[in-house]
Amino acid sequence: MSTHFKWMIIVQVLLNSIWGIVLGDASKDTDNRFPFTSVVDLLSQDVQFSTFVRSLQRGGYIQYLNGLQNFTLFAPVNSAFATDGEIGEFDIENYLIHDKVLETKQVVNKTVVFRHNVKYPVVMAQNSNGDFTVNNLPVVERDLMPNMQNASIQGISFLMPDAYTLPGLVKTVQSPKYTYDCISQLLSEIEDLDELLNNKTVLVPSDRGFRRYFSSVEIKYLLNFYHQLNDMEGAIREKWDNDLNTLLQNLVLSEMIGGSIDGKEVVSNLNHDDLPFSSNDHGSQIVVNGTDLSLHHLSNLVYDFGLAHFYDTDLSLIKKHLHFDAETYLHGLNCSNFVEEIYFRKLQRLIQNTKSDEPITIFVPEPSLDDEGGFTKPSLLYHFTEQHVDLEKDFPILNRDELFTNFYDTSFCSSNKRLGGHCQRMKITKSKNGYSINNQYKIISSKPYHVGNTLIYTINKDLQLPGDLAPSLQVLDSCAQSIHFMRNLNLLDLKPNGEGYTVFLPCFDSWNKLGLNLEYLEQNSTAANLIMRNFIINGLYYTDAGHYDKNTTNNMGEEVRICANSSKDKNQEIAISLSSVDDDLLIRKDDDIMFNQGVIHPLRSLALPNALDISLRDLIETTGNIEMLDFLKQYSELDGLLNATSSYSILVPTLSSLHHENITLNSSKLKDFLKLHIIRGNDTVNLLNCEGDIHTLLGKTLTCNRIGEQSEYLRIKDGLINEVRILNKGCSTYNSTQSCVFLIDRPISLSWIDKEKYHLALPVVAVALGVVLGTFFMVGIFCCLLAVKFGKGKHIVLSDEEDNDVQVLPESDNDSDPRQPLLADRSGNVASSHGIANGPQSSTIPGSSMDNRRINTGTADTAYSSNSTSKPIRMDRK
Ligand SMILES: *[C@@H]1O[C@H](CO)[C@@H](O)[C@H](O)[C@H]1NC(C)=O
Ligand SMILES: *[C@@H]1O[C@H](CO)[C@@H](O)[C@H](O)[C@H]1NC(C)=O
Ligand SMILES: *[C@@H]1O[C@H](CO)[C@@H](O)[C@H](O)[C@H]1NC(C)=O
Ligand SMILES: *[C@@H]1O[C@H](CO)[C@@H](O)[C@H](O)[C@H]1NC(C)=O
Ligand SMILES: *[C@@H]1O[C@H](CO)[C@@H](O)[C@H](O)[C@H]1NC(C)=O
Ligand SMILES: *[C@@H]1O[C@H](CO)[C@@H](O)[C@H](O)[C@H]1NC(C)=O
Ligand SMILES: *[C@@H]1O[C@H](CO)[C@@H](O)[C@H](O)[C@H]1NC(C)=O
Ligand SMILES: *[C@@H]1O[C@H](CO)[C@@H](O)[C@H](O)[C@H]1NC(C)=O
Ligand SMILES: *[C@@H]1O[C@H](CO)[C@@H](O)[C@H](O)[C@H]1NC(C)=O
Ligand SMILES: *[C@@H]1O[C@H](CO)[C@@H](O)[C@H](O)[C@H]1NC(C)=O
Repeated sequence: MSTHFKWMIIVQVLLNSIWGIVLGDASKDTDNRFPFTSVVDLLSQDVQFSTFVRSLQRGGYIQYLNGLQNFTLFAPVNSAFATDGEIGEFDIENYLIHDKVLETKQVVNKTVVFRHNVKYPVVMAQNSNGDFTVNNLPVVERDLMPNMQNASIQGISFLMPDAYTLPGLVKTVQSPKYTYDCISQLLSEIEDLDELLNNKTVLVPSDRGFRRYFSSVEIKYLLNFYHQLNDMEGAIREKWDNDLNTLLQNLVLSEMIGGSIDGKEVVSNLNHDDLPFSSNDHGSQIVVNGTDLSLHHLSNLVYDFGLAHFYDTDLSLIKKHLHFDAETYLHGLNCSNFVEEIYFRKLQRLIQNTKSDEPITIFVPEPSLDDEGGFTKPSLLYHFTEQHVDLEKDFPILNRDELFTNFYDTSFCSSNKRLGGHCQRMKITKSKNGYSINNQYKIISSKPYHVGNTLIYTINKDLQLPGDLAPSLQVLDSCAQSIHFMRNLNLLDLKPNGEGYTVFLPCFDSWNKLGLNLEYLEQNSTAANLIMRNFIINGLYYTDAGHYDKNTTNNMGEEVRICANSSKDKNQEIAISLSSVDDDLLIRKDDDIMFNQGVIHPLRSLALPNALDISLRDLIETTGNIEMLDFLKQYSELDGLLNATSSYSILVPTLSSLHHENITLNSSKLKDFLKLHIIRGNDTVNLLNCEGDIHTLLGKTLTCNRIGEQSEYLRIKDGLINEVRILNKGCSTYNSTQSCVFLIDRPISLSWIDKEKYHLALPVVAVALGVVLGTFFMVGIFCCLLAVKFGKGKHIVLSDEEDNDVQVLPESDNDSDPRQPLLADRSGNVASSHGIANGPQSSTIPGSSMDNRRINTGTADTAYSSNSTSKPIRMDRK
């Protein structure tokens, strides 16, 4: 210490003593120590401030303090240094209030905020226990008043380091009970925060407060939860910035207010709302607008430079001036890219919807890593419908395995060329697996986000606008045959017709049900073309249309009238009457499949258009057995039966079997043979259904026998039990129930007719004989099996045709050998030509006769009843 300084002190002490004598001891507190005292004297005399004095000396503040008047000094006692440690940067201004001599009597039962002539605001208070505090911490020595300086000293038990900034302050008050992460995040998103918050009061809501007044989506938007918004530009970014600032400005008051407030004081926030303030509990609780109460101990907290009051769930003003719309919600759902696309396509009107606007529903794809694709304007519009889709209201509660479908017009309505300005629709189906759009996109939750007049659903992937016809059918692979026809006929690219298309498309097994007709169509593309184009109708018909009746044209340019009567019952069939088709088309309600030019209705069965003529001749040609036509031509009365106007059906053996049986133009009894294969028209139904008597032109009756689902066999009633199998069938378009062609695997032999002739009325002897014969038969089978087994490899016995059944044919005698030529000429070696080892030749005839030979050696056919033998015995191919 310089000698100069020592002299100063001596002079001062002397002066103080003189003042004390002259003024008659104004300061009672200090006179017992020393007559004339300064702030520094008082501190120096009190040992509990020794560390503080040392700090003052080290900082060179002694002289500065001695030169001050009209001030308050907060002096930390030694223990404050012990706990907080030696402070490196020590600024005396942190401990001073200038121009204010503060005594505790000024703050009895109240809280006072000092904001002028201080480095940081100082809050001095007396709490309800009577204790005084400075910035919420206890005062341990009150009101030390030096008599030589107009000043006061308040001893405090802590140091006063630099105040936190507001974000720093908020971090210090995190506690399990009250968390303030939201406001922290908000503050971190705002630039120039210090300037904005300078000399202000901030009302700080807790996270619970945020959650009370904002939905989680709103919070995620405001606080940029997905870190997308800071990368946005232009109007999108601007809108968010505005919302952020509005939110913060709701919470920032234009001036500092805190501590005890007399009555009500009105202060406005930065959004110019006038807010009445009052205080409770000695000023330790700040009340906004009469209801919202700050937290004790977390009120009147000081930051650099201002005052903060912390709240829990109160603070309703947080939500003022903030308006959420679909755009903000989409951000909150991490769909900022989708918003960008909407801006890019200038469709903001669809997401900036306020309460008074039209209803809108948005189906937004969940954000995924690979959604960089971008949207075309139409596909973007397809995500919107301008109505409310309220899944839980629009769809009923379903039983297991029930489905329910609704159609909605989307906002994509501008395709005049393709859909005639109609809006492309979407189909929403409810099933036990939840809701799906167009059978492809899953709606994540049946509860939408609701903002303004907009509902938002999230879906599992990007919603694609229905595409071309063929790709749209991928959901239904049973339409492949139709696609095949359309591709070959160049019908997959439909010309824009200005009104859209309704396509009735044969799917499922509707083609296969046509049998021979399908084969015909595969060979005659003109006919296939006629069918497909008859089913492509100009104009849009959806199955939710109810009653529908319209005159329009089909793809051939022909006028057609289309009528539909919808049933009230969902999932029911709808009969469509097309004037160009005799029979109704049956489609299922809600089976509609959208494509970019209209709608497809899959058909489960096919009715042929009136304009399509398929004659019996066409069908016989389709069987590949043209010789049959030649045979018929020999007899004009029979040939005429094939004419359109007559109604007869015909059984056509396969060409190879015809050859095998040596049936030619020269065969005798050819006419009878043909007549045996022609069926009266009115019996065709029986033949189609495989039931009842079937009368042939020859006067003989056939019966049909169905085995399993597919296999149908014909034989002559009361004749031999030889059977032929129906391989395929198809009907003429002239009269589809009266004139049909049945392809059979081999000809029916005239020789099978006269069973009666050989039907001996056998006595008991015959029965016995039958038993013997049966034994023979079994032995025969056994031998055959052995023969087949040992002869395997070169002895391929059974045919390539489907029928592996070996029929056991009872025979009477050699004269009626069924393996004889079917017509009269009996030549050739029967036994050898039908032997088991006959190879390929015998294989052309299903129902190979290997057992017949053995039976032929017997005499009595009656050993086998027709019942026992009509069931084929299965022979293993091996
Ligand atoms: C101290 O404060 C008093 C009253 O506030 C004032 O009259 C006086 O001029 C002040 N003195 C100084 C040195 O500022
Ligand atoms: C301060 O409050 C206490 C109780 O809270 C009361 O007893 C006392 O009288 C009050 N003092 C003044 C000066 O109002
Ligand atoms: C702080 O705000 C008050 C009231 O708004 C004003 O009088 C004072 O000058 C301001 N102080 C500073 C440093 O801006
Ligand atoms: C204050 O409260 C009243 C009624 O409680 C309310 O109508 C008003 O909007 C509130 N003011 C602000 C700025 O929150
Ligand atoms: C193919 O079908 C068309 C239309 O039914 C018909 O006019 C034409 O004669 C058929 N062609 C043949 C080779 O059968
Ligand atoms: C369609 O045309 C027929 C006559 O060709 C007419 O009787 C019917 O009323 C028309 N239907 C509609 C819906 O116009
Ligand atoms: C069948 O049609 C042919 C020509 O296609 C004709 O010559 C013949 O007279 C017709 N027969 C009958 C019975 O209508
Ligand atoms: C079927 O038609 C024939 C003549 O073609 C006739 O004699 C017979 O009575 C008809 N049968 C039935 C059930 O109509
Ligand atoms: C088929 O012919 C029969 C008799 O000739 C007739 O009763 C029936 O109506 C015809 N069916 C069709 C579809 O032409
Ligand atoms: C058909 O004729 C050929 C030779 O002309 C003969 O070998 C064969 O046995 C005959 N088929 C029948 C079933 O009569």
